[in-house]
Amino acid sequence: MSNPSLLVLYGSQTGTAQDTAQRIARQAQRRRLQVQVLPLDHYNVANLISESLVVFVCATTGQGEPPDNMKNFWRFIFRKSLPVGSLCRLDCAILGLGDSSYPKFNFMAKKLHKRVMQLGATVLLPVGLADDQHDLGADAVIDPWLKSFWDKVFAMHPSLSEVTPLKEDEPLPPKFTFHFLEDVKEQTEDRLKIPSEQTIPSQSHPFPARLLSNKRVTDPSHFQDVRHIEFDISGSNIQFAAGDVVMMYPRNAAEDVQQFCQMLGLDPEATFTIRPTDNTAVPARLPQPCTVRHLVESYLDIAAVPRRSFFELLSTFSTNELEQEKLVEFSSAAGQDELHGYCNRPRRTALEVLADFPHTTAELKVDYLLDLIPEIQPRSFSIASSLLAHPHRLQILIAVVRYKTKMFKPRRGLCSSWLASLDPTQGEVYVPLWVKKGSLKFPTQKDTPVIMVGPGTGVAPFRSALQERTAEGKTANVLFFGCRSETKDFYFSSEWEDMMKAGQLKLFTAFSRDQEEKVYVQQRVRENSELLWDLITNKGGCFYIAGNAKQMPASVRDALKEGFQQEGGTSAEEAEQMLEAMERTGRLQSETWS
Ligand code: 2AM
Repeated sequence: MSNPSLLVLYGSQTGTAQDTAQRIARQAQRRRLQVQVLPLDHYNVANLISESLVVFVCATTGQGEPPDNMKNFWRFIFRKSLPVGSLCRLDCAILGLGDSSYPKFNFMAKKLHKRVMQLGATVLLPVGLADDQHDLGADAVIDPWLKSFWDKVFAMHPSLSEVTPLKEDEPLPPKFTFHFLEDVKEQTEDRLKIPSEQTIPSQSHPFPARLLSNKRVTDPSHFQDVRHIEFDISGSNIQFAAGDVVMMYPRNAAEDVQQFCQMLGLDPEATFTIRPTDNTAVPARLPQPCTVRHLVESYLDIAAVPRRSFFELLSTFSTNELEQEKLVEFSSAAGQDELHGYCNRPRRTALEVLADFPHTTAELKVDYLLDLIPEIQPRSFSIASSLLAHPHRLQILIAVVRYKTKMFKPRRGLCSSWLASLDPTQGEVYVPLWVKKGSLKFPTQKDTPVIMVGPGTGVAPFRSALQERTAEGKTANVLFFGCRSETKDFYFSSEWEDMMKAGQLKLFTAFSRDQEEKVYVQQRVRENSELLWDLITNKGGCFYIAGNAKQMPASVRDALKEGFQQEGGTSAEEAEQMLEAMERTGRLQSETWS
């Protein structure tokens, strides 16, 4: 039997599954296998019937949904018309990436496993269930799983053992080669091209929306900078409903771009084109030709915490003994605890790591940049406005993420800091964006009451819902809002007041720090159990929770359950069953983010 070629297909939301898929591909290359890596939605699934060896690497998102880049695949593979046995020639392995603190832990991988078996594929080893919550990180599962995978493949294809593998410390060829050009301008037109009237803006064709305003909505004395940001989307064809989310790619800060270029000895204004060395496609987001500045600012995720593969690759270039020793340790299975302490716990960025290894960084070859540093992933924000109240506009409410670790410089959220830095009064600013369906769905019937619990920026989707619903004459609206202080972070208070005056809203507030004892939204939910019981059980009301506080959704759900017990005289079990039934029918929904 000839050596198999390996196909690694991944579904990735935050980039971890992509990174893992690429790591598997590098291991395959070292073992001299032909290998191709693709996001599931870039692969023509119909071709699976003629593949011989495939690894699926699938992440599961918080809500147990498929990641965006495997949604089409997911629909296809569950088609009833697919004949049983259609994948009978396929040998495959499935690695799931998940987080056991969510109820649907590794749901995608488990479900895919069942489905490919049903279609007749041979699954070579048990599904790998990597867990972000594992003390030693997801690698604690991935490493032994990969070892078993290779053992299986080698046992099935003994001829593979006859070729000498590439040593761990020898660098693999880069995915792309860079070709610098003299006197050529970057193709910026491509980047800012406005999609034609017929197309709906998407990840591959975002709409450059003009930033209209960027206002701080917290008092200057408040600990947190929260922004209300408005974009002009006229002429974009963008439509959205309450609960939908807007997506955008953030950019690196100018000083980080400059430092990076300086450390690598790169001229930010230099222009280049890239050519793949194998069958990898040139990333559509990189114009050809492209400037170094654009590459570093908009594509390379230098502000993210680097993964183990970054150290693996870096160690293969290093000629400085001390640095190399450390890098090899960080790449090894035994060094993962130490790597976690050095990188993940203090949230050290790739840029800071490169600065810690100056000799290696100075020797880095530009051709390897796209292998070394992952691409910036798009970020999503709940839309905070409705087109019915603000036609041609899209608004968001975001907290600027900033926190301390043991690192001297405070840590910053890349996207929120970048957005906060944009100043539309200093010239026109455009942000390429697109819109995606969200998970929150609001009732269409006019009389169905809607109860919304959204402390902090969790109120964003509910502002959108309230604007939409009041414009449609739907007045049965209850909002529970929580913040620290009535005078410091009570967003949109005058808007709520107007709605209350118009008889369109009942509002309950919990100002956690305006008195000695803390008060949270769940307490208000408990205090209003009679009203909630009536709205939910007699009037068919729907209940929504949104926000970023970790414990909040569970506490609010518990408060509602207690209310059911009290008002309905039910047992805890019966109340739980009621909540579960509401969840199943979409009458209890939540959206949380971190
Ligand atoms: P705190 O910061 O004073 O603890 C918006 O962030 C509001 O949510 C703030 O008033 C915040 O209170 C509150 N909050 C923090 N943790 C919470 C929790 N577990 N449940 C409900 N509200 C919470």
